[in-house]
Amino acid sequence: KVFRGTAFTSRLPQEVRALEDCLFCLDAEGLIRRILHPQDLEYAKVLAAYSGRDSFRELSDGQYFLPGFIDLHIHAPQWAQAGTAMDIPLQDWLDTYTFPLESKFSDLDFARKVYQDLVTTLLANGTTTALYFATIHKEASYLLAQICADKGQRGFVGKVVMDDKEKNPEYYRDESTEAALADTESFIQQVLELNKTTKQGVYPVVTPRFIPSCTDEALAGLGELAKKYDTHIQSHCSESDWEHHFVHERMNKSDAYALHEMGLLQDKAVMAHAVFLSDEDAGLFAETGTAIAHCPISNVFFSNGVLPAARFTQKGIDIGLGTDISGGFSPSLYDNIRQAVIAARMLEEGVDSALPAAERGLPKSRISANEAFYYATAGGGQSLSLPIGRLEENYIWDVQVIDVNTPNAKLPIFDAEISIEDLLHKILFLSRPENIREVWVQGECVHKRT
Ligand code: GUN
Ligand code: FE
Repeated sequence: KVFRGTAFTSRLPQEVRALEDCLFCLDAEGLIRRILHPQDLEYAKVLAAYSGRDSFRELSDGQYFLPGFIDLHIHAPQWAQAGTAMDIPLQDWLDTYTFPLESKFSDLDFARKVYQDLVTTLLANGTTTALYFATIHKEASYLLAQICADKGQRGFVGKVVMDDKEKNPEYYRDESTEAALADTESFIQQVLELNKTTKQGVYPVVTPRFIPSCTDEALAGLGELAKKYDTHIQSHCSESDWEHHFVHERMNKSDAYALHEMGLLQDKAVMAHAVFLSDEDAGLFAETGTAIAHCPISNVFFSNGVLPAARFTQKGIDIGLGTDISGGFSPSLYDNIRQAVIAARMLEEGVDSALPAAERGLPKSRISANEAFYYATAGGGQSLSLPIGRLEENYIWDVQVIDVNTPNAKLPIFDAEISIEDLLHKILFLSRPENIREVWVQGECVHKRT
């Protein structure tokens, strides 16, 4: 297949590159083999050879390729309660809303309805890869992986582990530590088999919910399983001051050090939130290659804080963006890009009237739309250690086609000479799902809006 058009891709966190009117030549696996620029000698030859063929796709005026977005943290079952209960603290929210809802996913018909709707919605919002928490049920978790496989989304799916008998309600917890580990292992094996049948890949993820819901034995056992099968790992780390203090009290160390001791921090690990990491914790993330799933909408509600993303990026920590449905209400990474920029700005310039201006906020916290775009694309790919999130040779063709002239959703662009960077920023701040005309994963079209 060959695609022709202008594409945006991150080069560095602060720097976006526009590839103007290029030809993107894919191989049968959906990998970008060659990118030809108009000035390249072969450009005209390839164009002539492919023009008019079924395997050639040319963008029209006002259409652009963006890398597909990577949602680095999302609770699939919580899609059913998205938009509700945004006014109660994390612990109450888990007990009164979330655990009762998640317990219903023992019903596969209910699970199917919610999961099909969610995966379809994410694709329509430009999300081509997602790192999912499912529930404690291995059958329903496997169903989510199957739905990703069917719909062509690259899904990373975790059966959630919550084995502590004191900390979890009787109606929603693993039967025992042994059962939690055995279910996780058979889930991993099943998804590895399913993976072989897909082009885009679906992957099992070792998923302790967070330290407060797991026993030490389960945490250590999960660390071993991740090692044995070389899987990804996900959990929540230092999300709220309640959680942070709970772990300190139980383990006499920070969340980050406790997870590390259990073998849960490594290159393929992604920890959600990390708002309360100390500098030492952050050093441990950088050293082990552990990534942060930055969930800027959710953080407003459950962390009462802002991740110092710019500072952690400077320290060399991989960061991607997550919706954290339903701690965050929106399935859209566009909304989270916007919130990431807004929140960082408020961290830098937060007002505390008791302090002199010089002591307010955290200096150099602001990020530009370029960095938020980096987190949603290249940063997510780097976090997952896969060649996704960039439009470069030897990266996978996961893209969204943005149309700034969609009828009834036209972006306000009145300057024909608008710079390419301003154009991207308009796309990031103002696009709606109507502007996402097509979505491709691994070279296959998985969503089309006519
Ligand atoms: N910590 C433990 N479980 C959850 C969850 O479901 N959502 C969020 N935001 N934090 C959690
Ligand atoms: Fe979460």
